[in-house]
Amino acid sequence: MKRIYLDHAATTPVDLEVRKAMKPFLSDNFGNASSLHSFGRDAKQALEESRGKIAEKLGAGPDEVVFTSGGTESNNLALKGVAFANRKKGKHIITSKIEHDCVLNSCKWLENEGFEVEYLDVGREGFVNLEVLGNSIRKDTVLVSIIHGNNEVGTIQNLKEIGKICSERDVYFHTDACQSFTKVPLDVGKHNLDLVTINSHKIYGPKGVGALFVRKGTRIIPWQHGGGHEFNKRGGTENIPAIVGFAKATEVTGEKEIQHMTGLRDRLIAGIPGEFPDSWLNGPKENRLCNNANFSFRHIEGESIVLRMDQKGIAVSTGSACSSHSLEPSHVMIAIGLKPEEAHGSVRITVGKENTMEEIEFAIESLREVTDGLRKMSPFVKNV
Ligand SMILES: Cc1ncc(COP(=O)(O)O)c(C=O)c1O
Repeated sequence: MKRIYLDHAATTPVDLEVRKAMKPFLSDNFGNASSLHSFGRDAKQALEESRGKIAEKLGAGPDEVVFTSGGTESNNLALKGVAFANRKKGKHIITSKIEHDCVLNSCKWLENEGFEVEYLDVGREGFVNLEVLGNSIRKDTVLVSIIHGNNEVGTIQNLKEIGKICSERDVYFHTDACQSFTKVPLDVGKHNLDLVTINSHKIYGPKGVGALFVRKGTRIIPWQHGGGHEFNKRGGTENIPAIVGFAKATEVTGEKEIQHMTGLRDRLIAGIPGEFPDSWLNGPKENRLCNNANFSFRHIEGESIVLRMDQKGIAVSTGSACSSHSLEPSHVMIAIGLKPEEAHGSVRITVGKENTMEEIEFAIESLREVTDGLRKMSPFVKNV
């Protein structure tokens, strides 16, 4: 059976060019970038070249890019590192209700440590209200952290406007750009960003590597202490093959790939809600990640859809049982105003640059069979 992968928001395959770039750094150029000898110097050179490539992509300076083990660590470092470094100014942090779990759980942990966190509501399409955001900033606010491209419903926030508000009010601004990086232009200068989280495995790079942009002069303490690596902001021997792969991965998604993914996404959006009974699109039509489509199907469980699609060889995902495998409905779906039973019926389809239109047509047809079949079995459908 042919397998079709439509879950690129979860992770992506390592691109062949990325794999090729990484290979020499596994067994030939295996040095430790902190070593003084030639093996170490070769590793250091690769490290700094990679840092430069990633910095350029963000409009940042190379000494503003700190390599980490991924998006989770970068978000933890940004939130906890800035919160603790700025305790004298205040203990108030602003975020939104649709952040990734690693942001929300870092915030919950900070609340236990005596910080005060405000979780902003979002509208039906997932956008933060800028006026409410501005009014929420207080004298003791130290950090605003708002996700750039939402991992479930694809909403792309207006970073420029949020950045403007934060810089006018002299508050640090952090964004989690794991889903948007390379898909949506990101410029730390234009967007007034002080901290940006990015990772590699969402952009056809290897897993277990990411970075945090930290604007020069930002008060932040390290979260992982070690031997002074990464400008004293993150201890630990740098993972050179992964970092080289990450840097190469920033080159594999260009305008052509973005256009291709947009076409596939739009076919899904045109072909599913409306044509399918009792279904709708979650998230916005405009300002949406080019690879994200998310639908709700009334009276059926998202999880059942995922499992039946999997039997047909198609990988999609649901927000109903989130990454923690809990039975709670997705906090993002609830935040955009869905009832718990509606949230449970949601399915996320995230396309990649390697998907074809034939695969999308097959996925739409399969989804039709699966949802029709499940609806026939649903005890709720007879009652409507
Ligand atoms: C928006 C967002 N932030 C953070 C993460 C966590 O990144 P990582 O898997 O690299 O720890 C993810 C990945 O699931 C994500 O989608």
